[in-house]
Amino acid sequence: METGGTHTLWGDEPLNLHRSQLTQNTTADVCIIGAGLAGILCAYALAREGRRVIVLEALDIGSGETGRTTAHLTNAIDDRYFHIEQMHGAEAARITAESHTQGISFLERIAMEEAIPCGFTRLDGYLFLPPGEKPELLQRELDAAHRAGLGAVERVDKVPSFESGPALRFPDQAQFSPMRFLAGVAHAAERLGASIHTGTQVDGIDKSSSLTVRTRGGSAVECGAVIVATNAPINDVVTMHMKQAAYRTYALAAPVAIDPDAKALLWDTSERAGDPDGPYHYVRFTSSDPNGRLTNGTPPRDFIIVGGGDHPTGIKVEPVERWNTLERWARERWPSMGTVVHRWSGQVLEPHDAVAFIGRNPTGPDGVYIVTGDSGMGMTHSAIAAILLPRLIAGEDHPWKKLYDPARKPVHGLADLARHVGRVTANYAEWVSPGEEARSLSAGDGLIVRHGLKLLAVCRDEQGRLHSHHAACTHLGCVVHWNSAEKSWDCPCHGSRFSAAGEVISGPAIKDLESAPIDGATPEIQTRPIMPTPSSAPI
Ligand code: FES
Repeated sequence: METGGTHTLWGDEPLNLHRSQLTQNTTADVCIIGAGLAGILCAYALAREGRRVIVLEALDIGSGETGRTTAHLTNAIDDRYFHIEQMHGAEAARITAESHTQGISFLERIAMEEAIPCGFTRLDGYLFLPPGEKPELLQRELDAAHRAGLGAVERVDKVPSFESGPALRFPDQAQFSPMRFLAGVAHAAERLGASIHTGTQVDGIDKSSSLTVRTRGGSAVECGAVIVATNAPINDVVTMHMKQAAYRTYALAAPVAIDPDAKALLWDTSERAGDPDGPYHYVRFTSSDPNGRLTNGTPPRDFIIVGGGDHPTGIKVEPVERWNTLERWARERWPSMGTVVHRWSGQVLEPHDAVAFIGRNPTGPDGVYIVTGDSGMGMTHSAIAAILLPRLIAGEDHPWKKLYDPARKPVHGLADLARHVGRVTANYAEWVSPGEEARSLSAGDGLIVRHGLKLLAVCRDEQGRLHSHHAACTHLGCVVHWNSAEKSWDCPCHGSRFSAAGEVISGPAIKDLESAPIDGATPEIQTRPIMPTPSSAPI
């Protein structure tokens, strides 16, 4: 089983995703926090307009969710057009279709203009029904997609590669290798004058006469505008995190024999129900070389990438079961599937009303913009951010501004969100183990143990070292839970994640877990390395 490494990409040359740390104070027109696809695309778009741009990234380029996505470039909204229409109105559904369609074209144009060898390919996407689902849902979505302006969407009898039953065909979708694309855009942004610093953790944003972005290392960036592109915004303590919920999702890749004409993006209509046998599946096909080159004289091999098995972050699940269930589901439909060569997981932020938040941060100083609430469509939402935010920073209006406004009033879904948080935070008791069990932990395992009045998060890393921290998330104090797939501490409340050594992997938390030695097992004090990406996607 292959594991880890954002540079792997089916065995060819490593990508250069590391840059120097920011070590001195500097100035910029725009400071971007986060070097995933959203941050790097915004840097590229702004640098093209002649802005002085600096990007600060705590880990490496693409080390967050861009390194884990299965990268479907689509305008088939996974929350469904009829839901968007119901919640936000017909014009909002039209803008949703328009913005995601333009987002795909934006990515295509950059791939072509910058000659990025990322295998960008246009192809069809199909929405199909799981067994037992009534076909009326497809008709509702077909009608809503047409009303939203996607007149070419059509009903078909089945998807091309298995007996799915009726489906909707969305033409002109796309796919690429997200990490190759990201590396190419980062280089292009730098060529245009942007500077990117990795290993540079941001501590906060201050406002006096200008905005100042402070880093943990002590250096600062004085700037006119800030874009927070950290998946979950690290600048906001409460407001935005009450509007979205974090989910884990699972993916695997295996060789497969597939007719070239049958390659497509595939999605079923199951819900994220927390049921290992039920929830949502998404599939695409890629190649050992997305650019079709020969490797040692042999043609590239085809791979299937299957995703799904989503559940709220921080609930007690066995990731291995999720992967096994996905694999079983895929083998029933593509029996030629070979041995799984890679499996990984990622995080999705689901906005309460199914639309991402891209625009001015609703609280705090002027000049701070956010992009969050990817809703499983992070690739096109990143492109939408790179189209929209430069216009807003320039003080212009834009027809998409209102729909994506992070300050928009809740329309529906807050009750669902409250239920979600209640469900995932109500089960502390089932996580708490007796303290003595901590000493017999195997490498890669973690436990919450009671220690006096405190709950401790205790784990043993892959090198056998025991780590113990206060189990209170440093964002708002919820108890973190062990994620055995990623070897991380995940917070069920708003999705913050911490490494085995207690370091923040992803926000909204910006502080590490507090060290808390348990009796007789004083953990080693860890220096602060650049966190490895535990199991990033190979694509
Ligand atoms: Fe908000 Fe942990 S992420 S309390």
